[in-house]
Amino acid sequence: MNILLTGGAGYIGSHTAVVLTQANHEVVLLDNFYNSHKRVLGQLQKILGKNLHCVDGDVRNTTLITKILQDCKIDAVIHFAGLKAVGESVQNPIEYYANNVQGAISLLEAMKFANVKTLLFSSSATVYGDPQYLPIDENHPTGPTNPYGKSKLHIEEMLKDLTNSDNEWKIACLRYFNPVGAHESGLIGENPAGIPNNLLPYIAQVAGGMRSDLAVFGDDYPTIDGTGIRDYIHVMDLAEGHVKALEFLEVNNGWHALNLGTGRGYSVFEVIEAFEKASARKVPYHVVSRRLGDVSECYATPQKAKVVMSWSATRSLHEMCLSAWDFQRLNSVAAP
Ligand code: NAD
Ligand code: UFG
Repeated sequence: MNILLTGGAGYIGSHTAVVLTQANHEVVLLDNFYNSHKRVLGQLQKILGKNLHCVDGDVRNTTLITKILQDCKIDAVIHFAGLKAVGESVQNPIEYYANNVQGAISLLEAMKFANVKTLLFSSSATVYGDPQYLPIDENHPTGPTNPYGKSKLHIEEMLKDLTNSDNEWKIACLRYFNPVGAHESGLIGENPAGIPNNLLPYIAQVAGGMRSDLAVFGDDYPTIDGTGIRDYIHVMDLAEGHVKALEFLEVNNGWHALNLGTGRGYSVFEVIEAFEKASARKVPYHVVSRRLGDVSECYATPQKAKVVMSWSATRSLHEMCLSAWDFQRLNSVAAP
C-alpha cells in the first residue's frame, strides 16, 4: 500500500515509518517540523538503506495534501500530526484546537476530494479522562479533562459522523496509552525540546547527567508504593499495531476505537528501578506534591486489539528502558 504519514518525522511516526517500510509498504511523510528535526530523515535512511519521500508542509494546507494524495496514489493515511503537551494545551487552548481539529478537517477534506477513505487516527488514552474502572476498555465513558484531550475527542466524534454519513470510510481511532522507548538501532527515539514533560525522557536525561534529579509527582496515591501507575508501551509495539490496524481496515468498514496498551501498569518507582537496571546508572529523585490533573492509575485492557486484529504488545519494561537509554547515550550530544 501507499501510505501517507502526517507528522511522520515525529516520535511515533518515524518508528511507524520503519515498520511499514519493512513490511513492504511505500510511505510518504508529511511534516512541518514544528516538533521534530530534519535529522530524523537521515537516521531513517541509515536504518532502512533508502531515502523516504518527505514533504515539508502543514496538514492544514488542504491543496498540498490533496496533491500528495493524488500524485503519490495514496491508499491510506495515518494522521499523527498534532500538538500533544497537556499543560501547554491548558495555557494555549486555541492553538491546540487550531492545529489538531483544523488539521483533521483539512486532511479529511483532502481525503474526500481525492477519494482516499482509509484512515488511522492517533488518539489517546486521555480521551477517557479520570478512570471510572480499571482496566480501561473501549466502552469506558469518555471525558477528557484538558483541551488536548478534548481536541482528540472532537476529532474522534467528527470521524464517527463521517463514517455514519458514508459507509465507504474505514477509520480506526487508536487510543495510545504511554508510548516509550526507541528503535533498537538507537538512531531514532523521543527527543523532546526543552524540559521533558513525560517520565521516561526525564529519567533518561537524569541518567545521562543532563539533569540532576527527577521530581516524583506524589507518593501518596492509593497504589502499591504511593506513586502513579501507567501503562507504558514500547514504541515499536505501538508501531507494529499500526500495521495490524491497516490490515484490519482492509476488511472492515466504519468507525472503530482500539486501545493500544499492554494491559499492565507500572509505578513511577518501578520505572526508576527498571531504568537504573537497564542503564547501570543511578537515577536520583526527590518526591514533590502531586501534579495537577494527574490520576492515580491508568491502564488498558488491550483485549479488543488482540481479538479483532491479532495484535498484542510483546516487549518488556526492561526493553523499553534499555532502548530509551541507548537512544539517550547515542544522541544526547548530537541532538540539534
Ligand atoms: P511528535 O510531536 O513527536 O510528532 C508529531 C509530529 O507532527 C511532529 O513531527 C510535528 O512536527 C508534526 N506536526 C505538528 N503539527 C503539524 C501540522 N500542522 N502539520 C504538519 N506536521 C505537524 O508526537 P508523537 O509523540 O509522535 O505523537 C504522534 C501523535 O500521537 C500525536 O497526534 C499525539 O497527540 C498522539 N499521542 C501521543 C502520545 C505520546 O505520549 N507520545 C500519547 C497519545 C497520543
Ligand atoms: N511523573 C513524575 N515526574 C515527572 C514526570 C512524570 O513523577 O517528571 C509521573 C506522573 O505523575 C505520572 C507518570 O509519571 O504518574 C507518567 O507521567 P507522564 O507525564 O509520562 O504521562 P501521563 O500519563 O501523565 O500522560 C501521557 C501523555 C499524554 C497522554 C497520556 C495517555 O503525556 O499526552 O500519557 O496516553 F494522553
